[in-house]
Amino acid sequence: MRAVVYDRYGPPDVLRLEDVERPVPADDEVLVRIHATTVTRTDAGLRSAEYFITRGVTGLRRPKRKILGMELAGEVEAVGAAVTEFEPGDHVFGVKGFGAHAEYACVRESAPLAHKPAGMSFEEAAAVCDGVMLALPCLRRAGLREGQSIVVYGASGSVGTAAVQLARQFGAHVTAVCNTKNLELVRSLGADEAIDYLEEDFTKNGKTYDVVFDAVGKHSFRRCRGSLKPGGIYVSTDLGFLWHLPVLVLLTRWIGDKRAALGMAKYTKEDVLFLKGLIEAGEYRAVIDRRYPLEDVVEATRYVETGQKTGNVVLTVNGARPGGPQARGREEVSA
Ligand SMILES: NC(=O)c1ccc[n+]([C@@H]2O[C@H](COP(=O)([O-])OP(=O)(O)OC[C@H]3O[C@@H](n4cnc5c(N)ncnc54)[C@H](OP(=O)(O)O)[C@@H]3O)[C@@H](O)[C@H]2O)c1
Repeated sequence: MRAVVYDRYGPPDVLRLEDVERPVPADDEVLVRIHATTVTRTDAGLRSAEYFITRGVTGLRRPKRKILGMELAGEVEAVGAAVTEFEPGDHVFGVKGFGAHAEYACVRESAPLAHKPAGMSFEEAAAVCDGVMLALPCLRRAGLREGQSIVVYGASGSVGTAAVQLARQFGAHVTAVCNTKNLELVRSLGADEAIDYLEEDFTKNGKTYDVVFDAVGKHSFRRCRGSLKPGGIYVSTDLGFLWHLPVLVLLTRWIGDKRAALGMAKYTKEDVLFLKGLIEAGEYRAVIDRRYPLEDVVEATRYVETGQKTGNVVLTVNGARPGGPQARGREEVSA
């Protein structure tokens, strides 16, 4: 099968398309013929090993797992002897962790994998899990509940667009902060208010909120403090300048009435099923910025690394785009 492989850490050019052995499912695994996957900030971070700490997972000197790719959507090709939930021909979506930048991947039945929501394309289904699996633990960590107010800062990214839609589901009043071009998008995702960060600094508008969720790791507890209500909480996806956030998390447990928290991605089958339910109820939708064929992975990755994508970047695999024309070259698409 064709797969995108890399055997050293570095810039996007270390990625190359190669023929590799097609995996064979173990007893508890399904073999998925992948139709779509994504390039995420996590894929990019693992490949560059910009944060040395990630090498603890991927290999100290060079990558042990040579195929990246977390999200996937496709068709079950074969199942192991002990698999009961899926059968060949089923359309599935979910998170693999590693190995989705390929034509086929084996995924454990117990992994965050579920039947694809009815009426959703493979490309859309590939582009929903990553943002949700980070935004959801952050909103839970913040204890967000009905009637509360939340600011989602960086609302136009993968995590941000997920957070706006999920916070709305929690019954919160959502203020989304993004740039001018994405104001309409975040409103369409359910934001009650949208603030253009190029025009207005939300920390200076005199309003206070129960939760500030920094979905893109570009703000700080120090600057947001004044915008939090007493008992309010700042949650970020990022460790912050000089990795100070974990220290603040500890300090604010004991000092003051405003807290800081760090959200970590959590990938579970339960949450994929929860997301599937939201999608089928029309309460959640994919936000896709650009689509590239698998062979253009380097270009796709370079775009992701600009830090300016809107929502998600999809890689189409195995040529066909079900329900649409063949994916050729780069395309710009909005939600
Ligand atoms: N903790 C974890 O487990 C974990 C796991 C994965 C990722 N992360 C982190 O999660 C964060 C979000 O990931 P993502 O995939 O959602 O990012 P992303 O999609 O790459 O975010 C890009 C979006 O953020 C906006 N943005 C950039 N700079 C901004 C600023 N200063 N103020 C407001 N908006 C800004 C961009 O809009 P503009 O056009 O305005 O620039 C763009 O729409 C990243 O920092 C990533 O490192 C954490």
